[in-house]
Amino acid sequence: MKNLFDVSNKIALVTGGSRGIGAMIAEGFVKNKVKTYITSRKADQCNKKADELSEFGQCISLPADLTEMKQMDNLVSIIKEREKNLNILVNNAGAAWGAPFDEFPENGWDKVMDTNVKSIFFLSQKFVNILENSATNEDPSRIINIGSIDGIGIPRADTYSYPASKAAVHHLTRVLANRLANRNINVNAIAPGPFQSNMMASTLKEYGDQIKSSVPRGRIGSPEDIAGTSIFLSSRASAYITGTIIPVDGGSLVARRNMD
Ligand SMILES: NC(=O)c1ccc[n+]([C@@H]2O[C@H](COP(=O)([O-])OP(=O)(O)OC[C@H]3O[C@@H](n4cnc5c(N)ncnc54)[C@H](OP(=O)(O)O)[C@@H]3O)[C@@H](O)[C@H]2O)c1
Repeated sequence: MKNLFDVSNKIALVTGGSRGIGAMIAEGFVKNKVKTYITSRKADQCNKKADELSEFGQCISLPADLTEMKQMDNLVSIIKEREKNLNILVNNAGAAWGAPFDEFPENGWDKVMDTNVKSIFFLSQKFVNILENSATNEDPSRIINIGSIDGIGIPRADTYSYPASKAAVHHLTRVLANRLANRNINVNAIAPGPFQSNMMASTLKEYGDQIKSSVPRGRIGSPEDIAGTSIFLSSRASAYITGTIIPVDGGSLVARRNMD
């Protein structure tokens, strides 16, 4: 019963680990002795974040654009050359697009779907054998997909492809959990509420107070909130949990709406 949340000596890849929620998860892993690979398109930012986190443990930057199959294949082969096993894959990289309904463009649909949904499926497919390698019935490997409360509730913003993509992430999580359970891989999703990041920067700047007051816990999410749930989902403590979507949203989804 001791060390139920211990993740030391595991090996993880966090996509979109250069900033925002991915960087929070990577920091939590590194500080808990997980050897952590991070990837993102902008090599300088990815390298900088890995250098910063390397002060606390092992963090390796491998930049790639996950909407480009060749770059994805290259990332997968570099990790397979370096590691026999991968214990944790965090599919966090994501994109959003905002435009009024009547003007919403095709590229705003495709970019979001390719980044948020297609990359999760193919990265999981390409890594399945090294996820499977070290996995056991008692200590399965983990895929953690980052969805969103916008994939469960209805967002206020004009972001049509984004909530559709996140609902797809949640359902893909259940489908993969079913398919991969007998290969000793657990697949779960985290549905974050508001967290400080590039994606949320302008929204939080403009509506920060309103957003905070609409969250029952009265604040936006902190790095510890998202890292803690990711560590739980990577540890022995959650070995019997697969196919779930865990909101980490300060109660946003259960907030009482005023009738005004
Ligand atoms: N922040 C929130 O409040 C919130 C709420 C719910 C869900 N989420 C979800 O949390 C995840 C992280 O978002 P965030 O808020 O932290 O946003 P962010 O600050 O914009 O970070 C996105 C990350 O993904 C990377 N990325 C984007 N496109 C990529 C691509 N094609 N290939 C590889 N990496 C790519 C970015 O780096 P590059 O630009 O260098 O590629 C960056 O590292 C997303 O899935 C988002 O939908 C966030």
